[in-house]
Amino acid sequence: MKSIETELTKLLGIRYPIIGAPMFLVSYEALTIAVSDAGGLGMFPLPNYRTIEDLETALKNIRNATDKPIGVNIHLSGKFPWKDQLALCLEYGVNFFITSLGDPSLIIEDVHKSGGLVFADVISLKHGLRAKERGVDGLVAVAAGAGGHGGKIPTIVLVPYLKENTGLPIIAAGGVSTGYQLAASLCLGACGAITGTRLLATHEADISDDYKQAVIDTEPEGITCTDRLTGNRAYWIASSIEGIEASPELGSRKWKDLWSAGQSVAQANEIISAGEVIQKMAEGCLCTLESTLRNVKGNIL
Ligand SMILES: Cc1cc2nc3c(=O)[nH]c(=O)nc-3n(C[C@H](O)[C@H](O)[C@H](O)COP(=O)(O)O)c2cc1C
Repeated sequence: MKSIETELTKLLGIRYPIIGAPMFLVSYEALTIAVSDAGGLGMFPLPNYRTIEDLETALKNIRNATDKPIGVNIHLSGKFPWKDQLALCLEYGVNFFITSLGDPSLIIEDVHKSGGLVFADVISLKHGLRAKERGVDGLVAVAAGAGGHGGKIPTIVLVPYLKENTGLPIIAAGGVSTGYQLAASLCLGACGAITGTRLLATHEADISDDYKQAVIDTEPEGITCTDRLTGNRAYWIASSIEGIEASPELGSRKWKDLWSAGQSVAQANEIISAGEVIQKMAEGCLCTLESTLRNVKGNIL
């Protein structure tokens, strides 16, 4: 079986430089296991589990199914029991952490002691430089059009911008869901990519069939960006949030009816397994790199 080796795959011990995005109310055990077993890195966000006991059950389920590396998205704010979450994750061998809220330096020493890595989600160079000062191992470049809380700068600009100005390893996030998009990310200097939106339309995503169908049916033109629901810019399937305003009544049941997705709905045309998504991305990436090189060489000669 082929593999794609980058700085990220070497650091994490995975076959392909593809990370299954941690997605709120979407990625639980099944998706995490499927992505890791397919040679990528499966991830889930810790807020998906309301109690430490639920988190431990999830980690046990994952560990009973696979011994492959996995990662989590950790929120380092007072609202979350992140110290207990961190201790549990390290106990179960989680070796990759993406921080979104809070100061990543709070966890770096402990994670490094266990041989793991800490990357920070950033949408700008200012964020990237601050995370670098705090000692992160790399950055996730959250670009415009990414599902969830996407940024303002397109992937094609943000990845080299962050890489050139921070010198850190960069993971591309935003619109990377096929082999040619993964190849493009590597050409931009990324050491890997996170794919989120494409994994919504998979058997293992823990969301309603209506949500999956909407991801397939929606075109990029049907994706809207607004801060009115969470207070931060986020990308949504426009039809699912029509007429909805933020309010204290937006409990977790209601959140499940507000469908976040990024512009790469363009490449989500059928519901398949997450393993197939990863496999197709990897194979497509190698084909794209080989054929591009062949074509360019031909033209130069
Ligand atoms: C429904 C949804 C929920 C998300 N929730 C989170 C989250 O809880 N934590 C996080 O770090 N990123 C979250 N993201 C962002 C993804 O981790 C990832 O950066 C993004 O989906 C990549 O861009 P793409 O959607 O274009 O593939 C979410 C994305 C989606 C689509």
